[in-house]
Amino acid sequence: MQLKVQEVSKRFGSVHALDSLSLEIESGGVFGLVGPNGAGKSTLMRILATIEQADSGKVYLDGVDLGKKPNEMRRVLGYLPQDIAVYPNLTPVEFLEYIAAIKGIGKAVAKKQISGILDTLRLSDARKRKLGGFSGGMRQRVGIACALLGDPQVVIADEPSSGLDPEERISLRKLFLSMAKTRIVLLSTHIISDIETTASRMALMKSGKLIYVGAPSELALYADGDLENAYIQAVHGEAVI
Ligand SMILES: Nc1ncnc2c1ncn2[C@@H]1O[C@H](COP(=O)(O)OP(=O)(O)O)[C@@H](O)[C@H]1O
Ligand SMILES: [Mg+2]
Repeated sequence: MQLKVQEVSKRFGSVHALDSLSLEIESGGVFGLVGPNGAGKSTLMRILATIEQADSGKVYLDGVDLGKKPNEMRRVLGYLPQDIAVYPNLTPVEFLEYIAAIKGIGKAVAKKQISGILDTLRLSDARKRKLGGFSGGMRQRVGIACALLGDPQVVIADEPSSGLDPEERISLRKLFLSMAKTRIVLLSTHIISDIETTASRMALMKSGKLIYVGAPSELALYADGDLENAYIQAVHGEAVI
């Protein structure tokens, strides 16, 4: 599969959230999106998820113009927004059943998937507790579970590791890596080690523009193999990339 972003721009008042941005993302490896706060990562992801429209430019999924046919994306998409909302009075199982029904997944299939996903995300022990009492990290994992329901072919996760402890982060990396073999997996993160260990390609955004696209290992070369330092130098314009 291939996702192609072509000269996409988006403004909010005087802010250029995306400034004629072009990018190609393929299945076969995790694609990581990094950049300082306000760089435009979430805006780009919302446009790809077809819940926001670009002012200009186009997005294609396998050659289909999503501006004209957004459902082509919606029917294959699992999207984790940056700020997820869960219904406090539901248990994880009830919440996921509710989302599965909205996604049009049959009851029997949903039941099986939910049980598997809760296991993978280590939420099985909390399956009967109400979401209102969950910690931030647990809530985040419920959001990830939602995104993975229905076995989406395109996974877009906006800061999926936020709030997770190191052990949870590592298991999430493994999950994304295994999913990415046959799917498009795009994730944004503030945690450079997530990119370093997971992403085969990455894009670095700043002020709505891309300042680097390529392998994390190549970016790291700008700072003697230290990706975090290379990232900081690139963001501050100290390295010519
Ligand atoms: N709905 C909105 N209304 C006004 N400004 C917005 C809105 N969404 C994003 N922005 C602005 O667009 C820029 C990019 O934001 P965002 O895409 O959230 O960046 P990131 O996810 O990289 O932190 C920021 O300056 C932000 O304040
Ligand atoms: Mg964001």
